[in-house]
Amino acid sequence: MPEQKIIEIEVALGKRSYPIRIGDGILSGLGKALLPLGFDRKIALISNPTVYALYGDTVLSSLEGAGFSVSVISIPDGEEYKNLLWAEFIYGELLKARLERGSCLVALGGGVVGDITGYAASTYMRGIGCVQAPTTLLAQVDSSVGGKTGVNHALGKNMIGTFWQPSMVWIDTATLKTLPPAEFAAGMAEVIKYGVIKDKALFEYLERERDRIKGLDPASLGHITSRSCELKAEVVSLDEREGESGLRAILNYGHTVGHALETLTKYEKYLHGEAVAIGMCIEAQLAEKKGILKPGLQGRIKSLISSYGLPTGIPAGLISKEEMLKAMLLDKKVKGGRVRMALPEEIGAVRIETLSDLGSADQSADWSADY
Ligand SMILES: NC(=O)c1ccc[n+]([C@@H]2O[C@H](COP(=O)([O-])OP(=O)(O)OC[C@H]3O[C@@H](n4cnc5c(N)ncnc54)[C@H](O)[C@@H]3O)[C@@H](O)[C@H]2O)c1
Ligand SMILES: [Zn+2]
Repeated sequence: MPEQKIIEIEVALGKRSYPIRIGDGILSGLGKALLPLGFDRKIALISNPTVYALYGDTVLSSLEGAGFSVSVISIPDGEEYKNLLWAEFIYGELLKARLERGSCLVALGGGVVGDITGYAASTYMRGIGCVQAPTTLLAQVDSSVGGKTGVNHALGKNMIGTFWQPSMVWIDTATLKTLPPAEFAAGMAEVIKYGVIKDKALFEYLERERDRIKGLDPASLGHITSRSCELKAEVVSLDEREGESGLRAILNYGHTVGHALETLTKYEKYLHGEAVAIGMCIEAQLAEKKGILKPGLQGRIKSLISSYGLPTGIPAGLISKEEMLKAMLLDKKVKGGRVRMALPEEIGAVRIETLSDLGSADQSADWSADY
């Protein structure tokens, strides 16, 4: 087989640094790539039936071909299984297979598999290795990078979790060919977010190369995933744990409104990326009204979002302004009634604004967005 082109990005975190490797059709190279990391021969591959049916054989034979003895662990497909019960199931399988401290877990799937696998890896025997092989666009450009792991609790999403950096992220963009189009679009919302907050050239690329990207052209997918990972890696390197610097908060553009929308619609109406798409439109509108975003740019952001098949507003009558404000104030990132929002100043630059007293008539007027 000819050598496949692999783009490599380093997440610079001192001793916890790791590579992200991106290519088209590279899944079969995962086993060999794992060898230099020095893990035990015994490892576990964690996936769900949907993804495993598509890519399980390729990954398993790649790992076994490189000499690993692999326990395959399957959890059901769905956000509702990202919980402590299924983490406990994973621990049980790891104990039965006698995985030890020097072992590692390989996560093959979207953000759900990635998050619970990272969480299990960070807690099993006080922490073992973890390698991410993300297969959704959202996981490739966002959740597999940065070290946030976690599971949901009945009382809140992602409320139980750790920071645990993976040892490697192995991204095969060819897996996106089987992804449902709505899931692809949802991942594009996060890519567009990176363009707005940090990279005008990426934003313009997304405008210009839309047909190629939507047509899953390998070079275009390589470009948008690698650029997104680079941008996330830069932010994570400077603010690994959402610390005092607050830098990581810029990744929250579109998410203050997006999260409120997801909560109010009980996580049933919108995919995360769809809610973020609407959130980015509403927050851009707010930024323009407040004179933070240069005039005209709000429309440009909205057009790009819409051109990738994403929603740009809340259907009339679905949620009142008051409900929305209340939900935003309940967000876990709100401190002392002050909503901190990442608002765009121009394409490629964002700043954190604290909006206090959101309930007042004056502030409410700012929320007379298109919904
Ligand atoms: N850790 C982080 O920093 C972080 C960041 C963002 C989101 N998340 C988490 O990520 C999760 C969402 O991830 P997601 O959007 O990837 O959803 P997901 O993992 O549920 O995957 C979406 C669907 O696509 C299927 N699928 C995955 N890859 C496929 C492929 N190549 N072909 C066909 N089908 C495929 C899955 O089985 C699933 O049905 C949420 O739990 C969220 O909290 C975590
Ligand atoms: Zn997001």
